[in-house]
Amino acid sequence: MANFEERALLISNADVQKYVTVEDVIEIVEKTWTWFGNDQIIMPPKITTDMSSAGVDGWFNSMPNYIKPLDIAGIKVVGGYNGNKKKGMPYIKANVLLTDPHSGMLKALVAGDWISDMRTGAQPAIMCKRLAYKTDTVTIIGAGLQGYTSLLCMTKLLDIKKVYVCDLSEQARLNFIAKFDGTGIEFVSCIDNQSACEDSDIIITVTTADADLVKASWVKEGALVITMGSFKEVEFDVVRQADVIAVDHVAQALHRGNLKPLAELGEIDEHSFDIEIGLLLAGKQTYTPDPKKRVYAQIVGMGCPDVAVAETARLRAEKAKDNVKVFDVQG
Ligand SMILES: NC(=O)c1ccc[n+]([C@@H]2O[C@H](COP(=O)([O-])OP(=O)(O)OC[C@H]3O[C@@H](n4cnc5c(N)ncnc54)[C@H](O)[C@@H]3O)[C@@H](O)[C@H]2O)c1
Repeated sequence: MANFEERALLISNADVQKYVTVEDVIEIVEKTWTWFGNDQIIMPPKITTDMSSAGVDGWFNSMPNYIKPLDIAGIKVVGGYNGNKKKGMPYIKANVLLTDPHSGMLKALVAGDWISDMRTGAQPAIMCKRLAYKTDTVTIIGAGLQGYTSLLCMTKLLDIKKVYVCDLSEQARLNFIAKFDGTGIEFVSCIDNQSACEDSDIIITVTTADADLVKASWVKEGALVITMGSFKEVEFDVVRQADVIAVDHVAQALHRGNLKPLAELGEIDEHSFDIEIGLLLAGKQTYTPDPKKRVYAQIVGMGCPDVAVAETARLRAEKAKDNVKVFDVQG
């Protein structure tokens, strides 16, 4: 037996939601991005384990980080699994492990699904708040889980009047719209991305596609386009013709998502970006939304907001001393 005590919490998705609200997540993501902009977070770029060449239809990212203001170390492990839909499970599955940064002792294993989905949704909400000139009309392309959390969080920060919901699946569009029943927002179920985009102040792509879902000629002056999917989602010209390019993380932006192929062509590099959101929030960059400027933003996601939300849940669970499970790591 070890002569020291090491106890860790096991925190389920239901437990996380007992201690953390959607509003909390939005606030924590904004704070964590600001800390990142202030160099208070150590976070190597995430690495992907793509299992497809071994016959497993999935991939997962390992996203380690240390957050100085919370003095917590952790890693988010999150993947996309194509077979999950058939099993009635979400495409994305996530877990967060928290450790004491000074000893390596395990502090908690936290189910990361709700945290990951909600922090993913908080990201475009915060980006839109800082970068969008107008927020009246929004197009969401991809009516899946991340599309839902994105719009949910956007409704908490922005005044949205009309939303075009575009998806290949009619059922996905109808399910999505039903979740916003009673919000007073006008919804249009749409199969034509062009007419939706042409009328929109904000266009969000958050699909599993690898395709040109938005053409540059459909993006009006003053509009903000945000890509969030793991692959290419808009025509190269949407990026080429943008007046302002924003990202959540410069190094990761070049290796992932919509910008990866442009970086591989040598058309963009680390100097191509006008805004890194953490630097903007930390006051190290400035931006005033402009009715003439087209803004393009890519959000690929960082692990630090997940660790920060998980740590908030752990601290609140410890304080509440109710029925969260504890296990003796050495016992
Ligand atoms: N940027 C981030 O921080 C972040 C975080 C988590 C997940 N993601 C990514 O977001 C994307 C969506 O994830 P999800 O969990 O919502 O998946 P999901 O399976 O729940 O939803 C994806 C939706 O996209 C739709 N779709 C696929 N191809 C399309 C096309 N060509 N046109 C229109 N709609 C199309 C599907 O019908 C589906 O409804 C994935 O690429 C995922 O890896 C990004």
